[in-house]
Amino acid sequence: KTNRTFTMIKPDAVANGHIGAILDQIIKNGFKPVAFKYTYLSPEMAGKFYEVHKERPFYNALVQFMSSGPIVAAILEKDNAVEDFRKLIGATDPSKAEPGTIRQLFAKSIDANAVHGSDSDENAEIEGNFFFSAFERF
Ligand code: CMP
Repeated sequence: KTNRTFTMIKPDAVANGHIGAILDQIIKNGFKPVAFKYTYLSPEMAGKFYEVHKERPFYNALVQFMSSGPIVAAILEKDNAVEDFRKLIGATDPSKAEPGTIRQLFAKSIDANAVHGSDSDENAEIEGNFFFSAFERF
């Protein structure tokens, strides 16, 4: 079982100046970045990244939003990384996120929800591989 997860700081949080505060929370909570980049998703790349949601009604808006500005992508290492990270970021809909979670603190809406966190070890591996080659990770 892997001890890694994958995250993105989404365009809303980057645009609103929250990169530093969000990274601070992530690192203070014991997650160690083993791969890290400031980049962006073209609409084609965003469409591919979120292909699992292709049939969902929010797919087009999601792809448009995720390609609307720069993002931070990272692979994070910690025991029980996937589950613990989802606890740290809070519910997908920030209005339902627990106080003190990253989405409760920094997100505005279910689309502009500040951060992504992988939902399984398998997807963490797939998503990390989407952004990082072997020599880009510690
Ligand atoms: P994320 O964890 O990055 O994965 C898919 C994204 O779709 C999710 O965060 C939300 O930002 C967005 N989204 C928009 N509407 C919904 C919805 N109804 N259910 C789940 N995700 C949604």
